[in-house]
Amino acid sequence: MEIFLKDVQDGLNASPKYLQSKYFYDKKGDELFQQIMHSEDYYLTRCELEIFQQQSGKLAEFFKSKLGDFDVWELGAGDATKSSYLLKALKDQDVDFIYYPVDISANIIEWLQQNLPGKLPGLKLHGMQGEYLAMLNQSKTQSAKPKLVLFLGSNVGNIPLGETGAFLSSIRNCLNVHDILMIGMDLKKNPHIIRRAYNDRDGITSHFNLNLLERINRELGGDFCLDKFHHYPSYDPISGTCKSFLVSLEKQQVSIGAEKFDFEKNECIQTEVSQKYSVSQTSSLAKLSGFEPIGHFFDSRNYFLEAVWECV
Ligand code: AVJ
Repeated sequence: MEIFLKDVQDGLNASPKYLQSKYFYDKKGDELFQQIMHSEDYYLTRCELEIFQQQSGKLAEFFKSKLGDFDVWELGAGDATKSSYLLKALKDQDVDFIYYPVDISANIIEWLQQNLPGKLPGLKLHGMQGEYLAMLNQSKTQSAKPKLVLFLGSNVGNIPLGETGAFLSSIRNCLNVHDILMIGMDLKKNPHIIRRAYNDRDGITSHFNLNLLERINRELGGDFCLDKFHHYPSYDPISGTCKSFLVSLEKQQVSIGAEKFDFEKNECIQTEVSQKYSVSQTSSLAKLSGFEPIGHFFDSRNYFLEAVWECV
């Protein structure tokens, strides 16, 4: 059976119901996420971009002093808008590196291979299409050089806090002592600002969330009626956990292929977790998973952190 169908069935048969956030990103979902990143209320992307625009020279110097000669791996490279600034700074400082963007999307890898060397003349790029850990595991056969691994965008926040240590440990196990992970993490801040980012005034996030049901309709033959579900975001400022839900507006039954799923009025499907961290929490996560924090780079408002962790 198709894995998407199995995951959807497992999630909707569970109590409480859930759907996995990785399924947001079909073609339509990618487009909606692009719109989110450009929206007024979603501050994360702009904060992280500011760090790369303003501090790439400093970052490049720091990595050079720690690693000498090294390669750059990026987990979930996307269009490499942010990392391009760092790649440019590394070239300007005469680091001889290969850039290995890792992405699950073959389209993205192809796009990077065609476009990035034109933007950064002389860039050596080797695209890796597949899952993060599977690709990173191959890294030892690719090159013996030390590695700088980039994991940006607070994508780590999609992993429930209780599982983050195990995930980071598995990244650590693909690396060697003294290799460096730079990980972008969204910080705790005024809770209004965080809730706004996941409940933007243009309703793009709502559309993004509901697209998950549309995707089930399109790809799995579901019959979700989209105006019978509402986007609901929550943020708990104590735990730092932001969650998105879809609320069933009435008692209803939905079919997906041959199977039927019952929803009570006001029953919620959890669709995403986006964890926010304190700086000390990020350092605890580092130590828990075999790293030592060696550098912190913030945007001008201290909304977002690029944490630099050395493998110990
Ligand atoms: C891409 C996972 C970092 O959690 O902030 C944006 C996805 N979800 N708006 C995030 C997302 C709703 C985003 N990440």
